[in-house]
Amino acid sequence: MKIIAGNWKMNGSKATLHEMQQRLSEINTENRVILCVPFTMIDGDSAPAAIGAQDVSVHDHGAFTGEISVSMLKEAGAKYVIVGHSECRMYHGDTNEIVNQKAKMALDAGITPIICVGETMEERDAGKTLEIIESGVRESVPSDGGDVIVAYEPRWAIGAGITPTDDDIADAHKLIAGILEKMGRGGTPILYGASVKGANAAQIMSIPYVDGVLVGGASLKPDDFIPIIMATK
Ligand code: 13P
Repeated sequence: MKIIAGNWKMNGSKATLHEMQQRLSEINTENRVILCVPFTMIDGDSAPAAIGAQDVSVHDHGAFTGEISVSMLKEAGAKYVIVGHSECRMYHGDTNEIVNQKAKMALDAGITPIICVGETMEERDAGKTLEIIESGVRESVPSDGGDVIVAYEPRWAIGAGITPTDDDIADAHKLIAGILEKMGRGGTPILYGASVKGANAAQIMSIPYVDGVLVGGASLKPDDFIPIIMATK
């Protein structure tokens, strides 16, 4: 069983979500399928894919125009929330510390955080990939609370149509698994994300410690997303 999560970013509509769920109801898979959609499309009754959000406020309530609290996500029926996505780190200034707070908010509400870590192109070029991943996991993942999911998303490969080598993915995931083990979070699912598509999904998910994928662009259309889900049992 693998976890196949889609991140729709600021794309889609209620109609395309309905169509996706309809198509997903026609396939036979043991994989866990999650769709992280824009806030306005979150509908806990939507099935068969579980519905998640793409961000959450660090605040519980109050004068924070434009933000969405974890209790609002819960009321809407979200089961998961992505925190620390590369685009939130880049455009909203999310740091590891903020990501940790967001993950804690989710855990306290019984929503599973999908905590993203990964290096930028500059950090990669400077030979800091493993260092950034290590601090990302240590600082972003809460040391206690319920189950989490970690996603390794090399930031330079997101939407770029290129991926790290299998060896690089293997090294990153092994490192993350080791850190999580030391944090008392052994067995936490670790997803790979960035430029996953039908053509590379099976290979990527055969790499040790890759428990699934977090898919951006190729999660928007059933004809692209379903082959990724069906790439592995
Ligand atoms: P792409 O699959 O479009 O590269 O996006 C990956 C991503 O950011 C998933 O969260």
